[in-house]
Formats: sequence, structure tokens, C-alpha cells
Amino acid sequence: SEREDLRTDFVTLTNDILNRQQRHKEATGDLTILLSAISSACKWISNVVRKAELMKVIGVTGGTNVQNENVQKLDILSNEIMCNLLRNSGKTAILVSEEDDEAIFVEDPQKGHYCVCFDPLDGSSNIDCGVSIGTIFGIYRVKDAGAKPTIADVLRPGTEMVAAGYCMYGSSTVLVLTFQGSNEVNGYTLDPSIGEFVLTHRNMKLGKKKIYSINEGNAHTFDEAIKGYIDSVKFPPPGHTGKFTPYSARYVGSMVADVHRTILYGGVFLYPGAKLRILYECFPMALLVEAAGGKASTGRKRMLDVIPDKLHARSGIVLGTSEEVDAVETRYKAMD
Ligand code: AHG
Ligand code: MN
Ligand code: MN
Ligand code: MN
Repeated sequence: SEREDLRTDFVTLTNDILNRQQRHKEATGDLTILLSAISSACKWISNVVRKAELMKVIGVTGGTNVQNENVQKLDILSNEIMCNLLRNSGKTAILVSEEDDEAIFVEDPQKGHYCVCFDPLDGSSNIDCGVSIGTIFGIYRVKDAGAKPTIADVLRPGTEMVAAGYCMYGSSTVLVLTFQGSNEVNGYTLDPSIGEFVLTHRNMKLGKKKIYSINEGNAHTFDEAIKGYIDSVKFPPPGHTGKFTPYSARYVGSMVADVHRTILYGGVFLYPGAKLRILYECFPMALLVEAAGGKASTGRKRMLDVIPDKLHARSGIVLGTSEEVDAVETRYKAMD
């Protein structure tokens, strides 16, 4: 038939996480159920993100709009979707969201053993112009399933996360996921017509392109290490062939998109100073980038070794190809 070259042997996210569970004899299936809730939430958020602009024109009557605005802000709506689906999964004990000052402690009968830290919609400055945004999540298991969960169950180093990932709402919707100790990052693209995340990026490893990504408008705040490093990628010494090869600059302004590109194409993403939040921005991305063969650092130490002192603690971050992250760290060492 004319469809002979149409592949039908694809793998879905659902399948991958179920298979993973079966390989682990001691697994209870709780993490599988939790990830399935996250996957559903991301599909739902993807749907509202893609409809949002049209809804301003054609949508809602009771809740106002048809130019009268007052449709719920997308990051708040995304937060409600995440919170509700995570709670209803029955597998969560604590929810930490960028949009909520306090942690949410899930009560019985929905209470489970996992803590999820998430940024429901990352890249808020890009929402209204249709540029890629995303959802970021990091998952811990409570320290003691028999004890009452406390904040200490999430104020832990990133190395203790059991899984982390993001979903990017870009030209396509792609969910990227890794598990602690797996050294494997897989990406699944949403086929909206069937509502499945299909494995499209198996075992992602950082690309080799020379790209630097930083909001250079903040240059007046950069310390000598960052200034020096940025200068070095824009004005590298000519190679032995005498060719001048400065890096390309790429900066979306959505961490999800900037990290996704960094994983696929390579290079380095930097946000110095302390803007990005450790638990639901820095840690998940650090776990992914390390599993994809790169490094993530505060500039002075491995990002995943940081112990956050509060829920919304922030840090500077440098992530990407090992050589680039090493180069930045070397400059910080030289400063001390
Ligand atoms: P959020 O939209 O979740 O508040 O996060 C915004 C973050 C992150 O997405 C991005 O990397 C960074 O802010 C961009 O900051 P600048 O606009 O300062 O470059
Ligand atoms: Mn964010
Ligand atoms: Mn956000
Ligand atoms: Mn925000």
C-alpha cells in the first residue's frame, strides 16, 4: 500500500514508564502513576497554551472576555492543573510550586509518598508572544514513608531526586525525562491527534555546537568570571588554522527552551546572579543535563550538591557542555 513506509512500531511514554516499572522487581507502581499524572497535566497545559490566544477572541462568556479580558492567567491555570492532577494521583505527599509561597501538604485519602517541586509554566515573558514556554518538575521520595512529611523532605540536595523532567510547549510539545542514576534522557513528542507522547529522542546526549546563551542585558551585574568567560567565547583566539570562530548567541528567555536547545545542539546556558529557583528550575535541569553527558554548576560547585535553605531559594547557574562549564568554574577559582 502507499502507507508502506509509515512506521507503526513506535514507543510511547506510557509504555516506557510501565516497562521501567516491570524491570524493577521491588517497584510498587507509585512513581509510574505519578508520572502518568504529570504527563496528563502537561497534555492539558499544552492544550490551554495553544488555545489561549484564540480564547481571548472567541472564548468564555460567564468568566468574562471577548475583549473584556479577565480570563485566568495561564501560569495560574497551569498551576491549578498541576496541583489538582498531582493531588488526585494519590501518590504525592508534598507539592512545591513556583506559584505558591507555601508547600502544599496533601491530606488523606490522597496522600502518597512523593514530593513534586514544579514550575507550572516557565517563561512567563514569552506567553503573550507565542514563544516557547514549558513546565519543569523534580521528584523526591519522602525520607520516611511512616513519618509525617515535613519541609525537610524537599530541602534536600538535587542528587536525591528520583526523577526530573520538563515539557516544552514549542513548535511541538515535547516531554523530556530522566531518572536518578540512569544516565539516560529520553524525549517524547506529543501527537495531539491521538493524545500520546511518542518516543522521538532516545538517549539524548549534548550536541557539539558552539553556542552561548545568557541575558546579556544584565552585563552590568556580571562578575569578572562571567564577563571574562563571555568575552572569551565572543573573541576566541584564532585556532591553528588561523580561523576566527566566535560562538553563536541564542537566548529565548524561557529556561525550558534554552536548556532544550542546549541539550540538542550543545553549548552553554548561564544565568548568573540569583534569579532561577533551585528546587524547580535549577535542580531538574541539572539532573537532565548531567544525564545527557554535560555539567551543571553554580559557578563554584556542582549544582546538584547544593542544599536549598528554603522552598524558593535561588541560585546562579551555568549548564551545558562539560568543557564550557569547566571553563567558567576555572574563572571563578581564579577569582578567589
Ligand atoms: P518564570 O516564567 O517561571 O517565572 O521563569 C522565568 C525565568 C526563566 O524562564 C528564564 O530562564 C528566565 O526567567 C528569564 O529571565 P530574564 O527575562 O531575566 O532573561
Ligand atoms: Mn521559571
Ligand atoms: Mn513559572
Ligand atoms: Mn514566574
